[in-house]
Amino acid sequence: MEENLCYNLEFLDPNLSKFTVESPSETTISKYANMADLYENNILSWGYMGHYFTRDALLELQLDKHSRILDVLAGTGLLGMEIKEFGYENVDSLDGCAEMLEKAKEKGIYKRYFISLLGEGHTLPIQDDTYDVVIMSGAIGKCHIYPSSSFPELIRVSKPGGFIVFPVRTDLMDDGKYVGGNFTTDLGIFEKAGILRNVREPKFYEGYFKGIDCFTYIMKVLK
Ligand SMILES: C[S@@+](CC[C@H](N)C(=O)[O-])C[C@H]1O[C@@H](n2cnc3c(N)ncnc32)[C@H](O)[C@@H]1O
Repeated sequence: MEENLCYNLEFLDPNLSKFTVESPSETTISKYANMADLYENNILSWGYMGHYFTRDALLELQLDKHSRILDVLAGTGLLGMEIKEFGYENVDSLDGCAEMLEKAKEKGIYKRYFISLLGEGHTLPIQDDTYDVVIMSGAIGKCHIYPSSSFPELIRVSKPGGFIVFPVRTDLMDDGKYVGGNFTTDLGIFEKAGILRNVREPKFYEGYFKGIDCFTYIMKVLK
């Protein structure tokens, strides 16, 4: 695969071959706006399992069903649908793309729908210390979000002692395929500062997409 391509999105739209990692998030959002109708069919046809693995990581925590949860980069609500099946009803959603969230609204799974960009200095329209858990699937990667630019806001809106739960594709952990060098180093900023701690070792799953594996992370917010 040619260097610098946004390979998350090229799964969804083959015309994205000129879409580089330097593209700002507004460009990402406009691509999703154009593909909102096709998103689920396309991504599922590529064998996408991110929402299932993230759901399983959340279930490991065995949280109260009334816990306040924020699904970040919620898209059309694939993850929200999964966790609703397990009785979590107090779930809000956030995404920078109104068209994607509109699809989630049709499913009626979230309590609130925040349309907002995350990262690159954007402030979420959410008060400090609001959520017991922030969850996200299909979120970390090129043209999407990175810990160093987006986790400060997620930590701010999390309650002290809350959790941030997410999968990371193994191919993003290789040097050179990750903006700023290396995922583990990027996340390590928060661990070294004592703000985030792994609740358990990152858990390996085969087949995030066909031929691409992932680790799920459960991180506790210490602030
Ligand atoms: C791959 S989809 C994942 C959707 C859903 N979580 C899932 O697992 O199917 C990525 C979503 O992130 C949103 N997004 C990408 N970059 C964003 C950013 N910087 N801020 C807010 N939303 C963003 C897109 O609009 C899109 O809906």
